Amino acid sequence: MPLLGVNIDHVATVRQARGTDEPDPVWAAMEAELGGADGITFHLREDRRHIQDRDARILRETVGVKLNMEMSIADEIVDLAVELRPDQCTLVPEKREELTTEGGLDVIKHQERIARAIEKLKTRGIAVSAFIEPITDQIRASADVGFAAVELWTGGYSHATTLPESAKAIDDLKSGIGVGLENRLEVLGGHGLTYRNVAPIAALAGFCEFNIGHSIVARSIYVGMKQAVREMKDILLLHAP
Ligand code: PXP
Repeated sequence: MPLLGVNIDHVATVRQARGTDEPDPVWAAMEAELGGADGITFHLREDRRHIQDRDARILRETVGVKLNMEMSIADEIVDLAVELRPDQCTLVPEKREELTTEGGLDVIKHQERIARAIEKLKTRGIAVSAFIEPITDQIRASADVGFAAVELWTGGYSHATTLPESAKAIDDLKSGIGVGLENRLEVLGGHGLTYRNVAPIAALAGFCEFNIGHSIVARSIYVGMKQAVREMKDILLLHAP
């Protein structure tokens, strides 16, 4: 069954809305672990809109499961990651205006900068993953440039508004998984997955892990983080290929 990485950024979003010290994403990470999260994911953005450097440091000290840091390829952030040493870094595109990460990294266009970032991170024993759209050339380029894994952007599926759109997005993901595995990459998935829409994606063979954030944090407001994670794990188990 694929693993579940829980993205706790939006716990920090609520804290930052008031600039106080609650709710603490570090506490949320612990609750997520108790609920069965296989990994904790956070995105230390250049603009520090949610997760702060202090969170990243304490998460590194306290998280017992896999710690995955989403990050841009900006030098400042790569240097912080090298110092922090999470288990995995996921390189993502980052734009100031966006609400959340929109679409995947263009590995072909930014090949040289990406190669330099991977090299720095790898020398610290960090596994490096690329958040990309399920496009054959991008997946092959990710393998060529030295990524160990790709996280396929599931936004094409989660944003689909018609059945044919959704079916096409699932086909793209299926072929993306195939190309990833052929190129000896680990294949993860994430973006916009919710309790309501995750089942057909969870049923696809070849995904080793999903990173899910907003929907779990939203549900945790009502049922608590432990239970919200357990409920997502149950759905993944129920629909696992
Ligand atoms: N994976 C990556 C690489 C992301 O950037 C995000 C959003 O921060 C997620 C997964 C989680 O997306 P969502 O919050 O829509 O579940």
